Amino acid sequence: MGCAPGSWSEELVPYVGADGLVIGIDLLALKPIEGVSLIQADFDAPEGQEILQEALQGRLIDVVVSDMAPEMSGNKLVDQMRMIGLNEMTLHFSRDHLRQGGHLLMKTFMGEGYDAFRRELGVSFQKIKNIKPAASRKTSPEFFLLGLGKK
Ligand SMILES: C[S@@+](CC[C@H](N)C(=O)[O-])C[C@H]1O[C@@H](n2cnc3c(N)ncnc32)[C@H](O)[C@@H]1O
Repeated sequence: MGCAPGSWSEELVPYVGADGLVIGIDLLALKPIEGVSLIQADFDAPEGQEILQEALQGRLIDVVVSDMAPEMSGNKLVDQMRMIGLNEMTLHFSRDHLRQGGHLLMKTFMGEGYDAFRRELGVSFQKIKNIKPAASRKTSPEFFLLGLGKK
């Protein structure tokens, strides 16, 4: 989720192998990536959810990866609430479509609503880890939440 311009999707293709499938969704137009089914739609809208479900054809997902972030408004609280909204939507989607034992990695922001969301994530996953990649600026509130082993 939030796969444009596409470097993460390219990285994921070798992991799924010839029998696997990588599906990417973004609001922005995407250039074709070999081995990836790309969808230009809003993940956070009913149409986006419908198109994703069509692409899944009833299959359960092994790993959900989200790098989505809202367009920054400049208002810290508004941006934080939008980020948590995307996180909630991603968790909801994962509850429905991730296989038991599957994993979820998603970008989030440290701030209002984070603690409650992390607790909510803990209801659905055996283990939760916080990851701050070296490439992420120390002053940025962004980091990743990893949910391991969907219950
Ligand atoms: C940091 S970029 C992702 C970079 C990507 N991981 C890569 O490897 O190229 C975040 C992306 O999230 C997308 N995004 C934000 N909200 C979205 C939504 N509701 N539905 C789909 N994509 C969304 C943005 O359009 C943007 O391209």
